[in-house]
Amino acid sequence: MDNIVLIGYMGSGKTSVGRYISEKYGYKFLDTDEYIESSQGMSINELFESKGEEYFRKLETDTIKQLIDSLAHTVVATGGGMPVKEENRKYLRTLGKVTYLQTDVDTIYKRLCRDDSRPLLKGENLLKKITDMLEEREQAYKSCANCIISFNQSTSVEEIGDIIITLLDEENHKWLTV
Ligand code: S3P
Repeated sequence: MDNIVLIGYMGSGKTSVGRYISEKYGYKFLDTDEYIESSQGMSINELFESKGEEYFRKLETDTIKQLIDSLAHTVVATGGGMPVKEENRKYLRTLGKVTYLQTDVDTIYKRLCRDDSRPLLKGENLLKKITDMLEEREQAYKSCANCIISFNQSTSVEEIGDIIITLLDEENHKWLTV
């Protein structure tokens, strides 16, 4: 269970930070959305349109459950809704050390306002959608996390990735010297 699991809202940088850590730390990388897209042969948008959100949520749970037995030395970037279900939070914690990439509504809005790849953010009132959903999910993210990294739009992917790597190194060091 030496995997690193990244959780957080859409646009919080889980995939970019995950790829950075995996390259620098010599770990493999897996993104649960990409995994689902390739196993289903369609994009998340198409999945939501043709099968609906509930179907997608079931695939998320199946995916995270399966990965527990098959992953090691891997950074896992998860979809933003993954920790919402209590069952998933338990699986995520079993899969690895969970880090919540916590950022503010403005940062998310700026990153996502020209992006149409997220089915839950289509239509009017993007700012309100993000604000409401983030508030609803905050407790789930926090309760799932072993560690929370809080940042804003001026923090780079490299800075966030390096903080996570430092924390992991410190933990390993502690473990080695006990
Ligand atoms: C979702 C987040 C998306 C994707 C899907 C639903 C969510 O992943 O799983 O659109 O409910 O927050 P990202 O967080 O990678 O955008």
